[in-house]
Amino acid sequence: MEKKSYKIFALKYRPQLFEEVVGQKSVVKTIRNAIATKRVAQAYLFSGVRGTGKTTVARILAKALNCARGPEPTTRPCRVWDADDPQPKGDPPCDACRSIHEGNAIDVLEIDGASNRQVDDIELIRETVKYKPAYVRTKVLIVDEVHMLSTHAFNALLKTLEEPPPNTVFIFATTEFNKVPPTIVSRCQHFEFRKISHKDIINHLMEIAKKEGITITPAGLALIAEAADGSMRDAQSLLDQAVAFSGENIGDEDLKTILGTIGQDVLFRFSSAVLDEKPAEVFPLVESVVASGHDLRFVFGKLIEHFRALLLVRSVEKPGDLLVVSPEGLEALRKEADKATAEDLLRYLLAFHQAEPGLKHSALPRIYFEAFLVKLCNFKKIVPLRELIKDVEGLRKDGPRPPARPAGAAPPASGPAPAGPARQPPPGMAPPAVSSEAKPAAPAPKDVFARVLERLTVERAPLAALLGQYSSVLVKDGLLEVLFGSGRGFFVASLQDKDLRAIERTATEVLGRETKVRFAEESGTDGGPARPGRELEAALKDPSVKNFMDTFRAQVVSAEPVASAREAAGKARGPAEGGG
Ligand SMILES: Nc1ncnc2c1ncn2[C@@H]1O[C@H](COP(=O)(O)OP(=O)(O)OP(=O)(O)O)[C@@H](O)[C@H]1O
Ligand SMILES: [Mg+2]
Ligand SMILES: [Zn+2]
Repeated sequence: MEKKSYKIFALKYRPQLFEEVVGQKSVVKTIRNAIATKRVAQAYLFSGVRGTGKTTVARILAKALNCARGPEPTTRPCRVWDADDPQPKGDPPCDACRSIHEGNAIDVLEIDGASNRQVDDIELIRETVKYKPAYVRTKVLIVDEVHMLSTHAFNALLKTLEEPPPNTVFIFATTEFNKVPPTIVSRCQHFEFRKISHKDIINHLMEIAKKEGITITPAGLALIAEAADGSMRDAQSLLDQAVAFSGENIGDEDLKTILGTIGQDVLFRFSSAVLDEKPAEVFPLVESVVASGHDLRFVFGKLIEHFRALLLVRSVEKPGDLLVVSPEGLEALRKEADKATAEDLLRYLLAFHQAEPGLKHSALPRIYFEAFLVKLCNFKKIVPLRELIKDVEGLRKDGPRPPARPAGAAPPASGPAPAGPARQPPPGMAPPAVSSEAKPAAPAPKDVFARVLERLTVERAPLAALLGQYSSVLVKDGLLEVLFGSGRGFFVASLQDKDLRAIERTATEVLGRETKVRFAEESGTDGGPARPGRELEAALKDPSVKNFMDTFRAQVVSAEPVASAREAAGKARGPAEGGG
């Protein structure tokens, strides 16, 4: 066997020093400061997208805490060169750094929450706490994908965190912050790892290509960066794949084959069909993507991203910070987004989200896909129910009070067709389902959250509109927990770090104390379509719906979950800032 083994780029180029970490500036800065001032926390929680440096930074921190070269601890632990590295530089690493790098340090333990060795994991956690560090100064317990630990393991962990042993640092990493129990979150210093920018990924890959003697064009690198969507690991493994496919000279055409990306032009043709209201264009477009071998679910996912980008450029003043896109791409998005209001774009986006599970389970995905897009093409023609509600409210305030239905008479859930506007809103447009307990004297969590939403609406309307989809709220000990209906977890998933911070800031203001916000999906029987019975019940209790029905003597025939708190979306046209 040859001595020089081929090592995948993600491993070969895993940063070993804080300064080698790409992006994540504020995380790295804060941690380095903590080390320099000897104020390292006892527990950290690293959350964020896959392949953005969580495990990497955890290992660097472990080295920093244990490097024998000090000053104890050091912000510059040893760099460990691989045996087959062509040009080792500098001093040889200390034993601690070497063993941590090689993954066999006794006092630096890594547990993978996603693995099935739960029983062992609990044991490991217990053991870790029991004994003092053996060879090194600080024990470090790294728990990856912490949200996937079993309840047992969590309990063991919690107990440990309640009385943290000396000389032990816990680092938890997760790609799904929302699933980490608040009991753990509240005991940790939390860092959010961001998607790595297009530019940073391109530059980093360019360095790797140079070191490896690979030729690849900037356009080729941009293609990879785009496909990697903010994940450095994905970017590096795409480069691996490209080398395996083309050798050291990677042509753009090869890359296109490898990435199999759906062209931006195709996405734009789809959005133009919708925004220009040309349903006839949907069919040949679908035909062409199917003919070129694309999976419609994949295309659908890309369309969601595309519409999200459109909403973003329509709502945010400087979308460049939030979107990984070239200046020309941004300009094209802008032009396209100008064809609709932010509110319309939000409705399209929500409709997409709502339709996605249906497409996944559809036996006839192509027909589903076509029908859905044709429906979107006709979206604008339908008068938003929200507008009608606004009119009604205007009427009530300004004009004479229309005859009300007899007090206490609940409208029948079935019966003759509704009077007044009979057109039924398509998915994504029905009134929001609002839970409806009687109002208690103290501000109910719901009211607290309503105030948060109200404030958010001013500066981040689309975000507020998204949040208007919640089903219930809990407030407890500086934690505001917002629940979304079962199967509606995509709302949570579509929230960005930036959004979360804005919400927390607002909640802190409203509640007058430091408040963390968590989102969760109500556990339900399935993640499938909403249950009409429940939605209907909730809609019937909604005061706006009641108003509407009273005024038009209408009846609700069916209800679907939807667009937004009307106050929020009503203002979504302004130059508001908001994530998706
Ligand atoms: N910020 C970064 N700077 C440089 N390289 C990075 C960065 N983030 C990730 N990488 C590269 O990607 C590889 C995987 O990174 P890492 O294991 O730290 O990701 P992660 O955030 O823990 O991902 P996951 O959530 O999947 O566990 C690293 O070995 C490294 O090569
Ligand atoms: Mg990791
Ligand atoms: Zn060292």
